[in-house]
Amino acid sequence: SVSLKGRHLLTLADYTKEEIMKIINDAIKLKDMQKKGVTHHYLKGKSIAMIFEKLSTRTRVSFEVGMIQLGGHALFLGKDDLQMGRGETVEDTAKVLSRFVDGIMIRAYSHDSVVQLANNSSVPVINGLTDDYHPCQVLADLMTLYEAKGSLEGKKLAYVGDGNNMTHSLMIGCAKIGVHCSIAAPKGYEPKQAIVEKAQEIAKETGAKIEITNDPKEAVNGADAVYTDVWTSMGWEEEQQQRLKAFADFQVNSELMAAADQEAVFLHCLPAHRGEEVSAEVIDGPQSLVFDEAENRLHVQKALMVALMAD
Ligand code: CP
Ligand code: NVA
Repeated sequence: SVSLKGRHLLTLADYTKEEIMKIINDAIKLKDMQKKGVTHHYLKGKSIAMIFEKLSTRTRVSFEVGMIQLGGHALFLGKDDLQMGRGETVEDTAKVLSRFVDGIMIRAYSHDSVVQLANNSSVPVINGLTDDYHPCQVLADLMTLYEAKGSLEGKKLAYVGDGNNMTHSLMIGCAKIGVHCSIAAPKGYEPKQAIVEKAQEIAKETGAKIEITNDPKEAVNGADAVYTDVWTSMGWEEEQQQRLKAFADFQVNSELMAAADQEAVFLHCLPAHRGEEVSAEVIDGPQSLVFDEAENRLHVQKALMVALMAD
């Protein structure tokens, strides 16, 4: 049987297909227990520290509520609440927090600082988004697609928009599971080449196709899921005007959805900007699963915390 006890989750590249599917399947069980009101205090008496350098709605609330539902406790630590905000090192912060808590979740700008935190922590560290990756979101995305379609292998996910942290984690998650992944980004906004190559390398094990194009119609052709994300991520606000122009032809709207499979679902990690990366009629329309997807953050992160932190 698969055990993840004591592990970190920095990117999905570190997890096997079986480990990822275990988390998703456990999440489905926990979701059912929660809906039926069955107590599931698998983390009774445990604490998780949540460090946030960037803003958050879903990640913060889902981890905090998830921990409460598991019988544990979560501490919200904004960057300016910690001595890290006055220059205490990531290393010392990791060593000190490890003496107090059973796990650490961190949302940071630099992925390297999360790696450094993990290298100095004796308790599991969970990546709650960096400039380069967002693995927890992709666990929820794969769970949502699995629930909607009944299987994942051989399905096709198209991502249209900015080649960002979401794109990177989607490529890796899809490659691991055997979901074909087509990315359409404007020239100059493609995902990082090194991460594309890494995903393509991983995909060899599962037969997933990982493709990059500058043509949204080509990417969504026959897709079972169409995914997009904001054109301006947290940390890139200064480029907003220039990005509005660069991405003008990359909106997911009814016309683009019509080029996907007839039964295609629409996914978005949220927060969304209606009228920019997605039209209101798509995100608020019948193909959209964005609120199930957001809800699944709760269930999948509960499964993850149990897997990493339970006795
Ligand atoms: N999707 C997501 O991570 O949302 P938050 O930024 O609100 O946490
Ligand atoms: N790419 C977005 C995702 C937000 C959940 C950002 O980094 O701001």
